[in-house]
Amino acid sequence: MTSIVGVIGGSGLGVLVDGGEPREIPTPFGPATVTIGELGGRTIAFLPRHGAGHTIAPHRINARANLWALASVGVRAVVSTAAVGSLSPGHLPESFALADQLVDRTFGRADTYFDSGPVRHLPFAEPFCPVLRGLAIEALPDAAPRATVAVIQGPRFSTAAESRILRDAGVDLVNMTLCPEVALAAEIGIGTVAICVVTDTDSGTSADDPDAVTAELVFRRLAEAKPRIVAAIARIVAAVPGDYVPRPLIDEETVAALRALPVPP
Ligand code: ADE
Repeated sequence: MTSIVGVIGGSGLGVLVDGGEPREIPTPFGPATVTIGELGGRTIAFLPRHGAGHTIAPHRINARANLWALASVGVRAVVSTAAVGSLSPGHLPESFALADQLVDRTFGRADTYFDSGPVRHLPFAEPFCPVLRGLAIEALPDAAPRATVAVIQGPRFSTAAESRILRDAGVDLVNMTLCPEVALAAEIGIGTVAICVVTDTDSGTSADDPDAVTAELVFRRLAEAKPRIVAAIARIVAAVPGDYVPRPLIDEETVAALRALPVPP
């Protein structure tokens, strides 16, 4: 059976699938809204991270509910998009990059499914699925094939000193949402690949850098890039093998038990 591909849309993507009715899915962690539709010749389950009207701030996203809801409709692969600021001359505004590493600078977010019961430790040296990353690299030859992304708490942007510290530490890009989403996906048996859309140079490369981050700049660049973003998602979705199964980072029995958790009435 051809599996359904999950698509998590970042800021600026709006509603991606036409025709499909948004469905509120109850989960053990609260409700999540998913729209089943078509993209790239495949059935996809679309979930806008910030809500359909962009009302959910990065630190308020219920990532546990979102990933559980996607798992409940049969998703094993997620293609996501993420707005990012650049800390590196190798990643220019308006370019795309395929994240390969994460530095988690978030706090206070519900960041694991393994809160009680037997202790489980997710191996996370390689946070994104190598198979999905490999086919995304082929599908998007113009995108940078790798980038280390620091995920900050937000919703404010970084100070100049925070930005400098991350740059000096070798971080390429900065974002507010890929953590804990990618780890939760891995815990529940979903492989991920993230298309990073570079919108700005974070706190800027000089006092008069026109690409220094503002919310207005981020949303303008995302709106300009939307057709390219949708095309990029469609190309990757189309390339996901119908029988895709992610790496077994957590044993299947634990994953099955997690997916079978009862939903409170
Ligand atoms: N998303 C887009 N640009 C960003 C930045 N500079 N910092 C954090 N998240 C972002």
